[in-house]
Amino acid sequence: MQGSHLFGVWRVVSKNMRSLKPFIILSLLFSFIAGHAQPVSKNKVYNKTNKPAWWKEAVVYQLYPRSFKDSDGDGVGDLRGIISKLDYLKSLGIDAVWLNPIFASPNDDNGYDISDYRSIMKEFGTMQDFDELLKGLHKRNIKLVLDMVLNHSSDEHEWFKQAKSSRSNPYHNYYHWWPEEKGKPTPRYSFFDVNNDAWKYEAGTKSYYLHYFSQKQPDLNWENEKLRNEVYNMMKFWLDKGIDGLRMDAFQYVSKDTTWKKYPEGYEKNIIKYYGMGPNLHKYLKEMNSTVLSKYNIMTVAEGAGSTLADAHSLVDANRQELNMAYHFEIMDIGNDPRGYKLPDLKKAFTKWDHSFADKGWLAIFLANHDVPRMVSKYGNDSESFRTASSKLLTTLVMTMRGTSYYFNGDELGMSNIRFNNIEDYRDIATINAYKNAQAKNEDLQAFMDKQKFISRDNTRTPFQWDATLNAGFTTGIPWIKVNPNYKEVNVAAEEKNPASELSYFKKIVALRKASRVLVYGSYKVFDLENPKVYCYTRSLGKEKVLVVLNFSDKETTYLLDKSISTLSAKTLINNYSGTVGIANNKLNLKPWQAIVYKLNKA
Ligand code: GLC
Repeated sequence: MQGSHLFGVWRVVSKNMRSLKPFIILSLLFSFIAGHAQPVSKNKVYNKTNKPAWWKEAVVYQLYPRSFKDSDGDGVGDLRGIISKLDYLKSLGIDAVWLNPIFASPNDDNGYDISDYRSIMKEFGTMQDFDELLKGLHKRNIKLVLDMVLNHSSDEHEWFKQAKSSRSNPYHNYYHWWPEEKGKPTPRYSFFDVNNDAWKYEAGTKSYYLHYFSQKQPDLNWENEKLRNEVYNMMKFWLDKGIDGLRMDAFQYVSKDTTWKKYPEGYEKNIIKYYGMGPNLHKYLKEMNSTVLSKYNIMTVAEGAGSTLADAHSLVDANRQELNMAYHFEIMDIGNDPRGYKLPDLKKAFTKWDHSFADKGWLAIFLANHDVPRMVSKYGNDSESFRTASSKLLTTLVMTMRGTSYYFNGDELGMSNIRFNNIEDYRDIATINAYKNAQAKNEDLQAFMDKQKFISRDNTRTPFQWDATLNAGFTTGIPWIKVNPNYKEVNVAAEEKNPASELSYFKKIVALRKASRVLVYGSYKVFDLENPKVYCYTRSLGKEKVLVVLNFSDKETTYLLDKSISTLSAKTLINNYSGTVGIANNKLNLKPWQAIVYKLNKA
């Protein structure tokens, strides 16, 4: 359309330049308007995937409330603590905050065991505090995403208390039970149970209940329509308060195969294949979408996306009317070996997912969250010499891929793994119960502890580092988990003053992403996939093109760009070292962990 229109204009213009002056002016005006304000559906640079939406453009900052800021000295972060730091959040330039669960909970699994979905955890504050927090965020143009734990509740939830009181109680059927007269239940694997047994015997009803996670996290029975309706009403309660999105915890597990068939030996090594994407998952999601989600302009993301690309698409493609974006684990799983990972594997995983989602569906992009080690300790090098550069490089990767960027709090400071030496320092039920399990099996406990230094979830859950005062300025009391001793150097106060800090870089690159639609929507092309050190790709949208070059190595590296990349008059958009890096004959000399983003002239 646009091309033929311009051709027509050129023909007429060349015939009679003079008499057509007003027409030329009008035409130019039209072209200008077409280029700048054309409705998105008519603009060819967008397709089904990259039709703009606020939640695609958002940088989502994941905030772990327990460890962010304590306002009352009890050693636990709280909502008033967050309120006191709203201006910090604003200064980051982020668009949305995802809060880990803030609902009433006995905290067996740090809030992922909810005892009342409609009230705030006592340690975190009150509903008034919540309302004030939401208002304060909105005032600063920051959206709020809440974390809904819907696969299970706490065993201290009123529903479960009722459910276990008798088999005829109306709430009994809110959970999954195996009556003892049927003999021993078909084995099911539990992630957090000391013996990995997902069935626990309950004497009151002479039945076993199902818990994929800890014994204090009984699985909800989504087969029961009454339960589903209670959940939908509860979601509306929060959405009507004006929240902007939902992250649904472990949601891929909610639909169970209730024939309880036996799984093959070793199935737990491939658990998502057996637990994920159960028989009625889509039915529930469609029902939830039509009853609740479709009524609000919100972002919705479920943790996990099945075990195949097709699974992920079936959850998030626009025509599915289920969820907005896929949050898959393939990239997270790559860095799980303390001996390191191979860069080509990481590149291939990013590339495979991007290609699959190039025309439809949408992805979440992240390198960290509250369930995995610190980004810089896992994918970068957190030693003193390389922490800053490698942390900035990883930030660059997250902010320059196609998909919604998710960023875990503290990573903007370059916070790293704490690496506890003693089991007594750990707070996470996953680590503590796995330790007991290893102990019972007489396994090598030293090897276990060494692995936890790398892998334990507590590595990312240590208090946020605000300044160099006692407890990093997190609390005046005794912190619920120890503060990383590197807080004297790695903290907000020091980094705000330093233009070369991780924090300053984070703000810069967030601003860059926000200003360039090519970084959000542009198509992705990778080069030199097998190169073990350098990750190089371009992003293109319409006339815009950006080149990203990342040196994943402790060594200086000379890198030869693919000859198809034209670097003529390339302009540096951001560089994690000072100065510029010239490109001569398509060659660049990269410093250790150097990350550079160039704006290219599109050929
Ligand atoms: C999810 C959460 C994790 C929690 C688990 C059980 O994986 O991210 O923190 O322990 O679900 O709710």
